[in-house]
Amino acid sequence: MQRFEIKMYCSPEFPAYRMRRLRRFKIIQETQLKKDDFVYPLFIDENIKKRKEIASIPGQYRFPLKEIVEEVTSLREIGIRSVILFGIPSKKNMVGSEAYNKNGVVQRAIKAIKKEITDIIVIGDVCLCEYTSHGHCGILTEENYIDNDKTLDVIGKIAESYAESGIDIVAPSGMMDGTVRFVRKRLDDEGYTDVAIMAYSAKYNSGFYSPFRDAADSSPSFGDRSTYQMDYKNSDEAMREIYLDIKEGADIVMVKPALSYLDIIYRAKKMFNFPLAAYNVSGEYAMLKLSSLDQDRVMEEILSSIKRAGADIIISYHAKEFIERFL
Ligand code: PBG
Repeated sequence: MQRFEIKMYCSPEFPAYRMRRLRRFKIIQETQLKKDDFVYPLFIDENIKKRKEIASIPGQYRFPLKEIVEEVTSLREIGIRSVILFGIPSKKNMVGSEAYNKNGVVQRAIKAIKKEITDIIVIGDVCLCEYTSHGHCGILTEENYIDNDKTLDVIGKIAESYAESGIDIVAPSGMMDGTVRFVRKRLDDEGYTDVAIMAYSAKYNSGFYSPFRDAADSSPSFGDRSTYQMDYKNSDEAMREIYLDIKEGADIVMVKPALSYLDIIYRAKKMFNFPLAAYNVSGEYAMLKLSSLDQDRVMEEILSSIKRAGADIIISYHAKEFIERFL
C-alpha cells in the first residue's frame, strides 16, 4: 500500500532520520508479515445447502460440506497454507457425541480436503461447545458442574477421530486441565505420533468471542466459562498455563484473544521462546469491520502489532483479505 510521503530535511547530527529512510527499503524493517504466518478459520455447517454469510462476523461464511473443497482450493490459490476448522453439527446432546462421530461434519471435511489438496495444513479445533446442548466445553455432572476428567476422555476421542480422518494438527480449545498430556498419549497409543498439538494454552474468558458463538451456535445456555477460561486480570497465570502445556507435550502454544493481550504474547515469547500462535478473534475482527476506520490501514497495523509482539502464527479472519491486498 503506497501512501504519499513527504520528504524531510534534517541536520546530519540526528541519525534517526537516516534510519527512517532505510526502513522504507525494508532493510531495517523489523516486522514483516508473510503468507505463511497466517491460519484462516473456516466454519462447516451440516445444516445448510449453500454458503451463508455470518451476520456477526461480516465477510465470513458458514460453508456446507460440499463447498468446502472449492473454498480451500481458492484459499490455496492466493497462498493460504493453513486452515482451522470448526463444525456446526445437525444434532447436539448433553455429552456432545457428534463431535467424535467418524462421519461428523469436521471429519468428513478433513477427509475431503486432504484427498483433493496436498500442500495444506489442516488444523482441527477440538472442543465440545458446538456439540453440547448446553453449550459448555465440558461434560456436566448432575449438579451442573463441569467434570474435567470425564471431559478429557471425550476430547481424546475427538482428537483420535480427527487423526483418523487425516488431520495435521489438533487444537484442543476447551481449557480442561491435563488436556495436552491426555491427547498426546491417546494419539501416540493409537499410532498417530506425527499429528501435532496446538494448545489453546492461555485462553481468556473474553467478551470478544461473542460473534463466534453466534456463528458456531455455541453460547452456554446457563453460566459462563469463567471456571475454565482465564481471568484477564492475570498474566503470571498465563505463563504457568503455557509452561504446563509445553511440559505436557504441546508443539505450539497459543494466546487468545490477541489485541488486548499483546503483553501476554510478548511475555510468552520472551519467556519460553517456543512456537507461539495468537488468535485474532471474531470480536476483534468485527470491531474493525463495524467501524468507520480506514479498513486496510488498520488491518495492517493490527496484524503487524501481533507479529511484532512475538507471535509466529496468526489465526485471523483478516488472513484472506490481507494476503489479497498486501502480499
Ligand atoms: C471454543 C472456541 C471459541 C473460539 C474458538 N474456539 C469460543 C469460546 O471459547 O467461546 C472463539 C474464536 C473467536 O471468537 O473467533 N470451541
